[in-house]
Amino acid sequence: MRIFIDSANVEEIKEINDMGFLAGVTTNPTLVAREGKDFKTVVKEICGIVDGPISAEVISMDTAGMIAEAQELAAIHPNVVIKIPMSESGLRAIRLLADKGIRTNATLVFSPAQALLAARAGASFVSPFIGRIDDTGNNGLTVLDDIVSIFNQYLIDTEIIAASIRHPVHVVEAAKIGAHIATVPYNVIKQMVRHPMTDLGIARFLEDWKKVRA
Ligand code: E4P
Repeated sequence: MRIFIDSANVEEIKEINDMGFLAGVTTNPTLVAREGKDFKTVVKEICGIVDGPISAEVISMDTAGMIAEAQELAAIHPNVVIKIPMSESGLRAIRLLADKGIRTNATLVFSPAQALLAARAGASFVSPFIGRIDDTGNNGLTVLDDIVSIFNQYLIDTEIIAASIRHPVHVVEAAKIGAHIATVPYNVIKQMVRHPMTDLGIARFLEDWKKVRA
């Protein structure tokens, strides 16, 4: 499973990218709004940092508006993937964009049925929102598992991005289930790096080293 960062913060993205494991980035309107910067400028900056798919989301709710926005965003860089919200208009846009060779990421996916339709419409990626499914009292990982089984059963090549990740266990479980990608917030990536026993081990090694050197 590949690791993307779910962030529009250029400093965070740079810091994580330097660690060597990052394969892509997802943004959304909330994350971009938080930065208080021009959307296209942020997308361009991110494309200059990470060499992998960079998801940028459209705001229009009608197919024609989605297509127009998608074409502008796709022109920024070949790595830009257009995030399209799951809806009837969204499915139409996914199909038209796929026919034009523009990659899409179907976002706000909450059920296997939605994931199947988006994949069949030609989405390159689907993003089930694990944490937000959990928030509804359902099990996000069960939904992810169903999507993985269906795609495997029919050899569907749309990649599954486990999104709305809240903690490292979500990431590990998504990997065990067979998601292709997890898009992980900055703070959760930091939690994944560290372990109290690693910190303790480093402190002990340094202490012991000092004794020998003293
Ligand atoms: C995915 O692409 C979304 O940007 C994201 O994972 C949403 O997560 P949230 O539920 O933490 O807002």
